[in-house]
Amino acid sequence: MTQRIGILTGGGDCPGLNAVIRGVVKGAILQGGWEVIGIEDGFDGLLAPEKCRPLSLESVRGILPRGGTILGTTNRGNPFSSPVIKDGVTEYIDVSDEVVRNVEGLDLAALIVLGGEGSLKIALELMRKGVHIIGVPKTIDNDLLETDVTFGFNTALETATDALDKLHTTAESHHRVMILEVMGRYAGWIALESGIAGGADVILIPEIPFSIEKICQSVQARRKGGRNFSIIVVAEGAFPLQGSRVVREGASDSLPVERLGGIGDYVAREIAGCLDMDVRVTVLGHLQRGGSPSTFDRCLGSRFGIKALELAEQKKYGQMVALKGRSIVAVPVERAVRRLKLVDPEGETARCAEALGIKLGR
Ligand code: F6P
Repeated sequence: MTQRIGILTGGGDCPGLNAVIRGVVKGAILQGGWEVIGIEDGFDGLLAPEKCRPLSLESVRGILPRGGTILGTTNRGNPFSSPVIKDGVTEYIDVSDEVVRNVEGLDLAALIVLGGEGSLKIALELMRKGVHIIGVPKTIDNDLLETDVTFGFNTALETATDALDKLHTTAESHHRVMILEVMGRYAGWIALESGIAGGADVILIPEIPFSIEKICQSVQARRKGGRNFSIIVVAEGAFPLQGSRVVREGASDSLPVERLGGIGDYVAREIAGCLDMDVRVTVLGHLQRGGSPSTFDRCLGSRFGIKALELAEQKKYGQMVALKGRSIVAVPVERAVRRLKLVDPEGETARCAEALGIKLGR
């Protein structure tokens, strides 16, 4: 008897989503016994029958090298707090019962949710209401527990490292301080690892509040040593000692998490006061989320997709696929969303950066 499995992508997109979708669809169809229903635009799609469609081998042909998600996504769709307009006023109501009814109506044996912390928490709530969830960890931020890495992170690193390589040549020609602001929300993984790979001189991450004085000292020390330029990578969530994060837009009913951004400009303004050098800022922004996935992310995404299907077959619901060492394993979703996975300020990677002479602003 053919069983149905649903798949959706929630939260911000990232490279590799299509590799997972393709993995699930190919695995399901080639092995037989499964029909895959693609749900468009995250959990919102479960409120609109026209957004739920069968995925065939034809639907996933050629999508492996494509960034984004063929299913669409949203980081505002939460069935436990869904916007409705009443008398011209937007109210937020719980429509999760309707979602559960629709999952039953679609006759889904399981629902595969590709998401980061936010989407997986929603998935967990739906599981408590009886939906058979399987999680797949997605985010360029790499801030999910219980998996060594999330897919999307590697491609974002490639983009940030490439930007640093390019900034190096122009920084050197003009004897400038170049600041690169990267994403990562409250975690410094993208900044730290791209900074190491791209030969940055200073890396500022949310896990280590920084001192402007220390940054200036680092740049000046390089100058004294004959290096007339410096490269600073700053994570969007980094903040100064005795200071706070720079927030572009605060969280609200319609925006579940605050939008960060602008710390690069802050650092530029502050260090301009103590350095007699030109300072320029590049905000890498959504370039980190776009583009073709790296080889690593295509492979990881494909392995995650096949493992997610295997978990569905074994009825191992409430589990998330994860990479541990070189193996793909299953871990409880609940454990993955306990808190964010942050950089350990005294851990090996931070210490490696410092051993390489990179300053972390402390
Ligand atoms: O979580 C992924 C991420 O790209 C973060 O690094 C960033 O802070 C945020 O999403 C940006 O979200 P949006 O696309 O809504 O601006």
